[in-house]
Amino acid sequence: MSLSISLTINRQSRTVTLDDPRVTLLDLLREHLYLTGTKKGCDRGQCGACTVLVDGRRINSCLSLAASLDGAEITTIEGLAVGEALHPVQAAFIACDGFQCGYCTPGQIMSAVGLIAEGRAGSDPERIRELMSGNLCRCGAYQGITEAVLEAQK
Ligand code: FES
Repeated sequence: MSLSISLTINRQSRTVTLDDPRVTLLDLLREHLYLTGTKKGCDRGQCGACTVLVDGRRINSCLSLAASLDGAEITTIEGLAVGEALHPVQAAFIACDGFQCGYCTPGQIMSAVGLIAEGRAGSDPERIRELMSGNLCRCGAYQGITEAVLEAQK
């Protein structure tokens, strides 16, 4: 049984038909809408590579059923830059070398954007690490990531 839902994705209204009501938001984004900036790491809520914003809050899209999000506003990494202008968090990640291989970077950036929007990031690097702990970086670029979160708030 198919199901239609309406979403706003990166400021664009979309109506999508789900042939399988069990499809996750992550698979909807990547496999159906070809927004492949959002990455699949563990597919079980452990790595944060799939982080996107739903109604402004950061979530693991691999744990969220698309069918439960009718009417929601989704922001992915593709929706941050405006034209050629990078989002301040994207620019800060570049300025601070907040990545190495880059696979976790979209999730890290989306988590940082959500954290800063929550107003909880603050200026304590240890606290930022704790609040970003749902996003793993196998390369260990945590120092640059933390510096980028600090830089983006200036
Ligand atoms: Fe979703 Fe790892 S892919 S948390």
